[in-house]
Amino acid sequence: MLYVATVVVLVWCFVPCMTRNPPGHLQPLGRHRPPSGQIETLDTMLSPEDFYQRYVLPGRPVVLSGAARLSPAYHRWTDRYLSQRHANEEAEVDSSKKERADSYRENMRMDEFLQQYNQSEMYMLDRLPKGMMEEVYLPPCLSCGGFTRHLHDIRIWMSSGGTKSTFHMDNMENIICMYSGRKDWLLVDSEVGRHTLLHHTDGTEDFSVDVDRVDMYKYPSLRTIPWWSARIERGDCLYLPHRWLHFVQSYGRNLAVNIWWTPISSFDYSDCTARDSQTPVRLSELELKQGEQIRYVIRVYLEEYGGKLPKDMVQAQVIYDEVVITDWVFKGLDTNRDGWLTVEEINNLPVETIEDLLPDVYLEAVHTFGRCEAYNNTATGVHTFTCASSFT
Ligand SMILES: *[C@@H]1O[C@H](CO)[C@@H](O)[C@H](O)[C@H]1NC(C)=O
Ligand SMILES: *[C@@H]1O[C@H](CO)[C@@H](O)[C@H](O)[C@H]1NC(C)=O
Repeated sequence: MLYVATVVVLVWCFVPCMTRNPPGHLQPLGRHRPPSGQIETLDTMLSPEDFYQRYVLPGRPVVLSGAARLSPAYHRWTDRYLSQRHANEEAEVDSSKKERADSYRENMRMDEFLQQYNQSEMYMLDRLPKGMMEEVYLPPCLSCGGFTRHLHDIRIWMSSGGTKSTFHMDNMENIICMYSGRKDWLLVDSEVGRHTLLHHTDGTEDFSVDVDRVDMYKYPSLRTIPWWSARIERGDCLYLPHRWLHFVQSYGRNLAVNIWWTPISSFDYSDCTARDSQTPVRLSELELKQGEQIRYVIRVYLEEYGGKLPKDMVQAQVIYDEVVITDWVFKGLDTNRDGWLTVEEINNLPVETIEDLLPDVYLEAVHTFGRCEAYNNTATGVHTFTCASSFT
């Protein structure tokens, strides 16, 4: 009896006591260590130039406290108002608040969505309907300097709270403003994130990690990853630089609008002298330039391979669900027709040409991070390349 009891005690204690799992194993993302700190918060308005110099150029996130209060949407967008004024607007609604592959999306009218979203998992996430764009102002820090020539999407995120994103990074700059509810962010510096993505194990673009139960054996690079936290509430905006890994959760009736723009490489001062910066600009007045994002993504690939790539490599690299650079598209991009695409060529193309060649192509989520390798056999002149499995 004593013997049996001893064995039971030994098994009961020793199995968990001896296999000491890494901190945070099978726990929600972020439990492995406390945050390195809070993202800086500013209460004052930033000029576009200060915004560029202090945050955009160094790639530093910042919370712009109260910046969303300037827009009419801040006071107006109750369910009652939306169902009266914007009942007919349509947007895509996801069936799940937790981002995942097996959810489905359908178009829905705003009034239909409003009747159901409080009692369901519904998550509206799509381009902000045109009529609603009239009630949101461009954040003043984006009003000049070249940002508005690179805007490529404006999106609505609405639910009754409890949404969870994947842990991922985007290839674009982002300002997100809250008109209702709160969002909590776990953010990872772009340099750390780049290094981490390079070494993580499953070869996909996002971490396919379960954010509710992180498997620290499958993702050893997450065991010590340092992170920053940010909280934005109704009336606040967050600037999230491109390539910061992030995970976001929402609380309470949630209504946010975000602006995505393609990273800009310099500040255009002449754009600021030409513009009257006092009058607020409605989002509905702005033109979205999908072609600038396509240009940027292709340029990133070219730069990763030293500035130029032959046709077959461009076709294999620049993919999103399917091959988008067909022979015909490549001809249009390769202006000197030598079979190679260079950074100069892609930089010099008018944005309209890119948009004509690649209409309705969305390249937001493409990252190589060195996972593709080009190999040039100098003896034979034959170039080959290998990529992680998701690219084959
Ligand atoms: C949904 O719930 C929020 C509070 O969380 C409330 O303000 C809103 O009026 C509700 N909407 C509907 C259509 O019941
Ligand atoms: C491969 O090497 C040959 C000979 O050095 C060179 O002419 C060719 O441009 C290279 N190709 C690539 C894809 O770098």
